[in-house]
Amino acid sequence: MAKLKDKVVIITGGVSGIGAASAELFAEEGAKLVLVDMNEELGNSFVEELKGKGHEAIFMAADVTDHDRVKEVFETTRSTYGKLDILFNNAGIGEVKPSEELDYAEWRKTVEIDLDAVFYWSQFAIKEFLKSGGGVIVNTASMYGWVGSPGSAAYNAAKGGVINLTRSLGLEYAERHIRVNALCPGFIETPILGDTNREFLTNATPMKRLGTPEEMAKAALFLASDDSSFMTGNSLIVDGGYTAQ
Ligand code: NAI
Repeated sequence: MAKLKDKVVIITGGVSGIGAASAELFAEEGAKLVLVDMNEELGNSFVEELKGKGHEAIFMAADVTDHDRVKEVFETTRSTYGKLDILFNNAGIGEVKPSEELDYAEWRKTVEIDLDAVFYWSQFAIKEFLKSGGGVIVNTASMYGWVGSPGSAAYNAAKGGVINLTRSLGLEYAERHIRVNALCPGFIETPILGDTNREFLTNATPMKRLGTPEEMAKAALFLASDDSSFMTGNSLIVDGGYTAQ
């Protein structure tokens, strides 16, 4: 039995890396998708690819920090599919810079995308879910929400914030059938890694390899589906052993 049969899912950052692999897996499990991303060209071609495989998906170009656009995404989801079941807050950016050189605008940009937007999008979803009787939110945080690392102060602070935001929303809505959980990936081979030295990341990981977007998609499916029906306010760390050290 398909795990997300007829479930309507919004995935931000849904056309690349972890988001795209999740979109594909969720669609295979019967979900109807609203994919949101800043990358319009990739978004359009990816949705065509999904439709070519017989999946139901639409793409909406949006910057997750654009408040007016969020509203439009939720309205279009309702007008297209008639409901919303799952929000996957996955869009994110990384920043690698010594903290003494990080200016306030750079700090703000990372925190706005990686943390503020997670709250704002969740608030929209929660309003829908309170009317419809329930729903699920999955937030992509990071193992760097659990441990620190040099040179990514804003990113690590934002991801730590996502983990505690997840706890707080999970508790706040636990009795109202809204589950909120976070996925905390380790080093995953996606475009966000840029030209970061792969040998360094591999050696730092106890399993001595990077994770794949498909491995993250399986974890996201667990959190999005009824397989995790007794889990809320919590995190799933999938990092090849990094944070066990
Ligand atoms: P990715 O770069 O392949 O995907 C991120 C997507 O988010 C891109 O499609 C990008 O266009 C989109 N995006 C970025 N800023 C946006 C904005 N303001 N509005 C709309 N879309 C925006 O990278 P990946 O790895 O798939 O990233 C997904 C999530 O996983 C991010 O939240 C990232 O922080 C998190 N993560 C990734 C890890 C990794 O090693 N790849 C490790 C831990 C967490």
